[in-house]
Amino acid sequence: MIVLLIGSGGREHALALSLTKSPDLTKMYCSPGNPGINKIAEKVSLTLNDHQSVIEFCKNKAVDLVVIGPEQPLADGLSDSLRLAGIHAFGPSKAAAQLESSKGFAKEFMLRYNIPTAAFHTFISGDEHNALNYADSMGYPVVIKADGLAAGKGVVIALNHEEAENAINSMMGGLYDSAGKSLVIEEFMQGEEASIFAITDGTDFITLAPAQDHKRIYDGDKGPNTGGMGAYAPAPIVTEDVMTKVKESIIIPVLREMASEGNPFIGCLYVGVMIKDGEPKVVEFNCRFGDPETQVVMPLVDGDVLKLFYSAAIGKLDQSSIKTSVSGHACCVVLASKGYPGDYEKNFPINGIEIAEENGAFVYHAGTSETDGVLCSSGGRVLGVTAVADNLKDAVSKTYESVNMIYFNNAFFRKDIAYKAL
Ligand SMILES: Nc1ncnc2c1ncn2[C@@H]1O[C@H](COP(=O)(O)OP(=O)(O)OP(=O)(O)O)[C@@H](O)[C@H]1O
Ligand SMILES: [Mg+2]
Repeated sequence: MIVLLIGSGGREHALALSLTKSPDLTKMYCSPGNPGINKIAEKVSLTLNDHQSVIEFCKNKAVDLVVIGPEQPLADGLSDSLRLAGIHAFGPSKAAAQLESSKGFAKEFMLRYNIPTAAFHTFISGDEHNALNYADSMGYPVVIKADGLAAGKGVVIALNHEEAENAINSMMGGLYDSAGKSLVIEEFMQGEEASIFAITDGTDFITLAPAQDHKRIYDGDKGPNTGGMGAYAPAPIVTEDVMTKVKESIIIPVLREMASEGNPFIGCLYVGVMIKDGEPKVVEFNCRFGDPETQVVMPLVDGDVLKLFYSAAIGKLDQSSIKTSVSGHACCVVLASKGYPGDYEKNFPINGIEIAEENGAFVYHAGTSETDGVLCSSGGRVLGVTAVADNLKDAVSKTYESVNMIYFNNAFFRKDIAYKAL
């Protein structure tokens, strides 16, 4: 089977490694790829928002399946264009991707079908006054979210009236362009967060190991939010009972009602939940795999990921393609550039990846570049280092052992990934 993978991050590197394990894979292309992915897939430079050119590539190369990693091409309708051209795609339609691309859409949808989530109201630009009154009426802290995609920066937890006023005015004033012209203001939920991935053909689904990521830059969950500084799976907070509730009160109704509204969701539904006293409530949906959770979830999958994705894409989910029970534990630590998520220096040579890999770790590339055979740091999040073991404690120590084998100037990482669960 010939696969085209879309994306360039650690998430796509983890997906690529899992796909290469399938005996059915004959060839993998990746666009735009990265130096890590390019070792196992052929890099192609496609203009992703020119859907016709992507279709032509797929036809020329007889691509059997397109796996779409990031949210932007999904929100732009790449899956729809591919399907219309008769090409199988793993990833939701533009309409189904609204579960992520419009927070207002997701919240109204949950309200319609009684799916547990924080109380909320939506407001559009021009209605700043009522938005602020609503925030005041909820009490503080209150959560203010830009409706559209804002690269993980569109959520403010306002601690008081002034912070709410600033957030509302700046978002509605165009801080995130049109993404913030409409806002969701919602109740602040206490509890512990977890991420659950459901692989679905629009009707049936299989959940993967529940994961927990670490969004803040510093140890002890301090400092500004990042794209994610590490993750581990399975997350013990998601007990069997919580997982049953997530399936019955969230995933099943979401898939059923998205289909009933004419927007079946095909691909990976990312369910972000807040769990308090064993009760999960939805924090957010994403329409694709999470990063860095994928870097811990995929290494724990026992089975044929290509078969899983392909069967979902053609609408006949193969429940036997992977084992549903998860054995093993995985931990991922992100090596970032010092200064991230603010300004940082880059283009420092990276050493030690091979040694870490010989130690048994998976080293996923997220922000690297290669010039004249020298691998350098090129982004805020540079590498994701994952190790798997029989228990979480060993996975964590093997991960940190491997992290310490890698060196580049100004490397920074959190020292407490997964400690909450130990
Ligand atoms: N109602 C809430 N109560 C408490 N915390 C919340 C709430 N909504 C969001 N958060 C916090 O803010 C973070 C970001 O919110 P959300 O996941 O909706 O934004 P996002 O930008 O779509 O995130 P991602 O980049 O992971 O897709 C959450 O992970 C959670 O920690
Ligand atoms: Mg999101």
